[in-house]
Amino acid sequence: MLKVGVLVSGGGTNLQAILDAIDEGRVTNAAVEVVISNNPGAFALKRAGNHKIPAVCVSPKSFESREAFNQALLETVDSYGLDLIVLAGFLVKVPEMMIEKYRNRIINIHPSLIPSFCGVGYYGLKVHEAALKRGVKLTGATVHFVDEGMDSGPILLQKAVEVLPGDTPEILQRRVMEEAEWQLLPQAIDMIANGRVS
Ligand code: GRF
Repeated sequence: MLKVGVLVSGGGTNLQAILDAIDEGRVTNAAVEVVISNNPGAFALKRAGNHKIPAVCVSPKSFESREAFNQALLETVDSYGLDLIVLAGFLVKVPEMMIEKYRNRIINIHPSLIPSFCGVGYYGLKVHEAALKRGVKLTGATVHFVDEGMDSGPILLQKAVEVLPGDTPEILQRRVMEEAEWQLLPQAIDMIANGRVS
């Protein structure tokens, strides 16, 4: 059984997609052991609680330095003996010591077709604003392994989503979530849990 920790900062719809997929048997051989948020107000923590999954907040505001926060985050992750860390809308830069320790065991979902609209500054609605501004006709989502760069690790899965006339960033964000993100992230976990990743 793959022990999964999910790191979140916000609403947690991707977390919900993972929990639903496990409940419905679309993801097998995996269990979410803990949900960790940097943000005490994240609704994702409530989703974890509703599922009787430990919900832990490690906020940078509770620490005197970034180093102390990074250390506490790593210790929290370590304490659950995780096989896979899933970044599901986690808006904190993952500490390098965590990346080193969990190399090829951290995945992230990004709401564009990498290498478009990714890297520093591209998060949340900004990604979709940039896609609309550039006038692309296709966007999508990407699941990738996390390395020291921003959105630069090896790509595991991608799915394209159409941009339609009249789209606003909010409408496009919702379509990318529904048609791509909520499918890809569970699918990636299922692949890893069942040894279908080379
Ligand atoms: C998603 O768009 C994800 O791709 C991005 O942050 C957003 C998180 O949404 N990294 P949610 O918290 O899962 O609802």
